[in-house]
Amino acid sequence: MKDRVLTGYRPTGKLHLGHWFGNLQNMLALQESYDAFYFVADWHALTSEWADPSHIAQFTTEMVLDWLAAGLDPARCTIYRQSDIPEIAEMALYFNMVTPMSWLERTPSYKEQQQQIGDKDLSNVGFFLYPSLMATDIVIMRSRYVPVGEDQAPHLELTREIVRRFNNTYGEYLPEPQALIEKSGARVPGLDGRKMSKSYGNGIFINDDPDVIRKKVMTCLTDPARKLKTDAGDPDICPLHQIHKLIADANSIADWERCCRAAECGCVAHKKALADDLVAYLEPFQARRRELDANPDYAAEVLAAGAAKARPVATETVAQLRQMIGL
Ligand code: ADP
Ligand code: TRP
Repeated sequence: MKDRVLTGYRPTGKLHLGHWFGNLQNMLALQESYDAFYFVADWHALTSEWADPSHIAQFTTEMVLDWLAAGLDPARCTIYRQSDIPEIAEMALYFNMVTPMSWLERTPSYKEQQQQIGDKDLSNVGFFLYPSLMATDIVIMRSRYVPVGEDQAPHLELTREIVRRFNNTYGEYLPEPQALIEKSGARVPGLDGRKMSKSYGNGIFINDDPDVIRKKVMTCLTDPARKLKTDAGDPDICPLHQIHKLIADANSIADWERCCRAAECGCVAHKKALADDLVAYLEPFQARRRELDANPDYAAEVLAAGAAKARPVATETVAQLRQMIGL
């Protein structure tokens, strides 16, 4: 029996380089040697999009097609949609029984997102319960490992705490999952230097047209202290170079760093070079993605087959929990 890995994305926008390097490369590797469960967290999307959920279905389809074009293979991993597994809602209710409100209040993402995302009303109970719903996603499938970006680490810690409290209360049954964080892509910066995020408008999307990629890269922040080409730069604090490092080989990385520090080459030249490299890097993915567009039903078929595999696992966990709680 292979150990299970599981991860999910919220269908609230298009996939960007943060997903690609922070997570998707890891997911591709893991499907080879683990029992991999990958799901679309549409209920999590609803926690912030509840007032206007009109785009969730479309983003769900696009996300699945992006995953497939990137190389996730339904023969080697299980791809499903959260809302196709209603047992998750039942188990979330049990998790919410044992979770103190203070644990949810102190989750860093809770206050952070409320502050950063000013245009949405996140004072709803559903958003407050986001982390315990996420804990449920993971544990209902009895997953051992959860590949995520660095920003999700506190959610994994909380998941482990909820599991311990549940097991202490009703008996040792549920496994404690562990985060798998890919070091090289743990926090891909966006064009403005903050974490690349669809909520910040600072992303390069993996499906962006070549001319859009070129335009965006030209606006990317570099070392802010380097005003002139003749000033020496610091590549370590340059978001452009952090993105470059994700696709470049060791020679090219060393070369950029040396000539930036020596003030021999300017940021504009580096931007042009990175834009060309990114366009070439994404082209094979984008070609596969265009092929998949020809069969619009494919995503729905993959999700149906995935639900048929994942749901029995959830049903079994929930049946066991009912028994343990004594319902
Ligand atoms: P977003 O922040 O754009 O809304 P999600 O919350 O849907 O993205 O993230 C899905 C997965 O991708 C999570 O595991 C998250 O940690 C990872 N991820 C998202 N953005 C980045 C980034 N800029 N760098 C590294 N990982 C990221
Ligand atoms: N919170 C995750 C994010 O914003 C999405 C998510 C929901 C998730 N449930 C999960 C990730 C379970 C891993 C495991 O990206």
